[in-house]
Amino acid sequence: MDTKTLLEWSAKYHTANYGARAPICLVRGDGVRVWDSDGREYLDFGAGIAVAALGHCHPRVTGAIREAASTLLHVSNLYHTAPQIHLAKLLCEHSFADRVFFANSGAEANEAALKLARKYAKERLATDRYEVIATHNSFHGRTLATVTATGQPKYQHGFEPLMPGFKHVPYNDLRAMERAIDNRTAAILVEPIQGEGGVNVPDEDYLPGLRKLCDASGALLILDEIQTGVGRTGRLWAYEHAGIEPDIMTLAKALANGVPIGAMLCRQDVAGVLTAGTHGSTFGGTPFVTSVALATLTTVIGEKVPEHAARMGSS
Ligand SMILES: Cc1ncc(COP(=O)(O)O)c(C=O)c1O
Repeated sequence: MDTKTLLEWSAKYHTANYGARAPICLVRGDGVRVWDSDGREYLDFGAGIAVAALGHCHPRVTGAIREAASTLLHVSNLYHTAPQIHLAKLLCEHSFADRVFFANSGAEANEAALKLARKYAKERLATDRYEVIATHNSFHGRTLATVTATGQPKYQHGFEPLMPGFKHVPYNDLRAMERAIDNRTAAILVEPIQGEGGVNVPDEDYLPGLRKLCDASGALLILDEIQTGVGRTGRLWAYEHAGIEPDIMTLAKALANGVPIGAMLCRQDVAGVLTAGTHGSTFGGTPFVTSVALATLTTVIGEKVPEHAARMGSS
């Protein structure tokens, strides 16, 4: 099929929400390079928007995909599967977290975090504590709750009424956050470094300051590490740079190097309110995707990819 026809069919058959796509059709990837349908080669700086952390078609990832596809692709979460258990254990052993919930995307991981924060606040703090404070220029996803949390009106326009229970304050402004917290606040939700909002790195005292505000008020600190996690900042998780730990962390993007996955990690006492039947997902944490994530994460950790990223970043 020639490229011109493919692009015509794309214009004819797709919804128009990805309006500004580059007029090329990518057919193959290998490491940091991709090729289009006319044989042109490109250096892929985007890496699928922070997804292909190990590069395209990394042999360990491809091997895990082949193996899982011919062993067990999917069973429901009515049953246990070894890869899901091993991945949850690995994530907990290499982070602040005690518990993991698996979803399929970043937005879904954030949905789980928002639902958990509301339930925790209502059950453990006060029945009328449900508000989440997020920041201007943030990005947390496209579902109704996560687009409400996203502090950019351009993503919200036309989808009103938005969800109740969200406030926004300027990013990297501890005073504004302090003024916004009240006896309705269930959680603060921020990215350790804002990604879609323009790669905004906060001052060194910002995350420690948010931690202190949460400790003082009882609100939960949710870090959206969907873009910063899995080694992207030179540490496995960006919160490590700040010397603090969140109560909840969300992951997606690079966790399975291109196979769709989301994860919500949290402390044991917070996880306690997510009792049987309160949340779930048909595809979350299938043996297929968790095998691929396991291969990705063991490679990232075992081959010291974050340390390599830190060296490359400072050279
Ligand atoms: C920080 C952050 N949170 C959440 C999301 C949403 O993730 P997804 O597109 O997988 O739903 C993104 C995606 O760009 C993101 O960068």
